[in-house]
Amino acid sequence: MLRSRGLLSFAEKCCVIPRQGVHSAEISRTEEEAAVYVHWPYCERRCTYCNFNKYIAQSDNEGAIRACLLQEASTLIRLSQVRRVPSVFFGGGTPSLASPHTIAAILEVISKHAYLPHNAEITLEANPTSSRRSKLQQFRDAGVTRLSVGLQSLDDGDLQILGRTHTASEALETLKEARKLFPGRTSVDVMFGLPGQSLAAWHSTLERLLDQCDDHVSLYQLTLERGTALFRLKEKGQLAFPDQELSAQMYEDARRILQRAGFRHYEVSNFARNGAVSTHNMSYWLGKQYIGVGPGAHGRFVPRASGRKRREARIQTLEPEPWMKEVMSNGHGTRKATEQSDFDMLSEMLILGLRMDTGISHERWKTLGSALSLQDLFGTSQDLRELQKDGLLVLDHNGLRCSWKGLAVLDGLLLPLLSQLEDSWSQQIKMNLQQPP
Ligand SMILES: C[S@@+](CC[C@H](N)C(=O)[O-])C[C@H]1O[C@@H](n2cnc3c(N)ncnc32)[C@H](O)[C@@H]1O
Ligand code: SF4
Repeated sequence: MLRSRGLLSFAEKCCVIPRQGVHSAEISRTEEEAAVYVHWPYCERRCTYCNFNKYIAQSDNEGAIRACLLQEASTLIRLSQVRRVPSVFFGGGTPSLASPHTIAAILEVISKHAYLPHNAEITLEANPTSSRRSKLQQFRDAGVTRLSVGLQSLDDGDLQILGRTHTASEALETLKEARKLFPGRTSVDVMFGLPGQSLAAWHSTLERLLDQCDDHVSLYQLTLERGTALFRLKEKGQLAFPDQELSAQMYEDARRILQRAGFRHYEVSNFARNGAVSTHNMSYWLGKQYIGVGPGAHGRFVPRASGRKRREARIQTLEPEPWMKEVMSNGHGTRKATEQSDFDMLSEMLILGLRMDTGISHERWKTLGSALSLQDLFGTSQDLRELQKDGLLVLDHNGLRCSWKGLAVLDGLLLPLLSQLEDSWSQQIKMNLQQPP
């Protein structure tokens, strides 16, 4: 939903690293902990819409991939020198295809190198067909505390078009079992803007969903990704999709319906009630450190053991086979590690922080060491004043955030904000250079 990936490269354009004071006390505290993301790269079948980093396993190589995940987790945690891991997220691909033994072994290796509190949030993404009750129970015994079930739709026709391996009633059965085992800690993923989907059909899905769901819901507008079967069908004119106006209406209606049912719309795509927000995902949006383990996983952490002081944006090798070879020879499969400048980190915080209803607090902004406060940066901009006047953005004593109305059009707000950040940043650099040493 409202993805902002393209904007990151805009941030990466600026390569000047200004001399800014870092709030070292805050940084060292946050550097002591990191969330861990573990990528399981295999699926049973390719869904027709999905361009995530996933593969169909040609043979049973679970032992080999487990050994590499353990090795890489151990190497990267040691490299980061983090002492505490508040959350772990097993994503994919389809991590519910992994054996519970693999999940337990990964958690064990994490807790060998860092403190994994007993109340840590340990989420596993589960596809209905690979999540029978006994397996879910074994995942719980292995240490999983939260489940994210991929429902996607409650209409069998939609599920077929999406290439899912389950029916709506199988998905609801999995949800029921999951809720028994993970009460208050079961989330569902649902998509909208599906081929031929009407507003009435979407309303009916939401009603049935609200009857059955737990306290967390993630809603994603279908994105047509190049290289997927759905994209090709659309190109050939063989499938009709809701236009942008209808999709926007679906999103707006969903937020209102969920809000009326007691959910807080706490992030662009995420809704929670009874305080069931995902703390793992919050750590991305708050700009905290995280370590990515497994093929194609992303990470953001300071590799302190190598003597470096700046945070790096890391990506692991995408394909499982080459990734495994690298892990076996180097202890990790990091394909690229790029030092992040202060400007990179601030742009990223702007892009991610504004996804949350609480936005970016003044304190959080300061932790990245910006000499320019949110007020300095955005308080005087004419564009920003307009956005505030239109009721889309709020800048006050708490910080900078989107209004209810603004959250629905976040991408449109980010462009002027990022361009304002870039301008103010360049001016600040010029002023720094003009000052006598
Ligand atoms: C990559 S999947 C992994 C979870 C699990 N394999 C599954 O399918 O349920 C994570 C979520 O991303 C969402 N997603 C994947 N591709 C998408 C697309 N093209 N448009 C919108 N949402 C998408 C789906 O809702 C999915 O549940
Ligand atoms: S949506 Fe999930 S199950 Fe489907 S191909 Fe993508 S990662 Fe695999």
